[in-house]
Amino acid sequence: MEKVKIKNYFYTIITLLAIIMAMSQGCKYENEEELFESNECDISMVSYQLDIIPIVDQNCFICHSTAEARGDVILDTYIDIKSWADESLFCAINHDEGCTNMPKNQPKLSECDILTIKTWIDEGALEN
Ligand code: HEC
Repeated sequence: MEKVKIKNYFYTIITLLAIIMAMSQGCKYENEEELFESNECDISMVSYQLDIIPIVDQNCFICHSTAEARGDVILDTYIDIKSWADESLFCAINHDEGCTNMPKNQPKLSECDILTIKTWIDEGALEN
């Protein structure tokens, strides 16, 4: 009788341990997945409205609004941005030779922002 009790107790502990391990592994996996997703650069459907405007607003607009127009570059409307996209915009943000590095005196845009803009330009710089 006593032996059976100890056996049951033992199995309960083992089962609990197994559940705890399974749960903690589940959590770890979820965290890794979240991390991975936040590092991922999704360029499968680049949109002028949803992707390009926010990047320009956050990083460029302070100097390139109609009011500021530093270096006579205005990045205010689609037409403005598109015409610079046809010129030196990518060269500037990618820090290629032959144009001024942008954003001026600030860190380079993130790899993902640069790739997003490159994709948008490659796909025809549409007002999508
Ligand atoms: C702190 C101010 C500032 C910020 C922020 C800034 N620019 Fe500029 N930009 C300038 C100035 C000033 C010039 C004129 C060239 C010069 O004097 O260096 C210029 C020039 C340019 C040019 C012309 C470069 C050439 O050599 O043909 C482009 C294109 C440009 N900027 C795009 C951008 C983009 C895109 C962003 C955001 C990612 C940005 N700029 C952010 C100040 C800024």
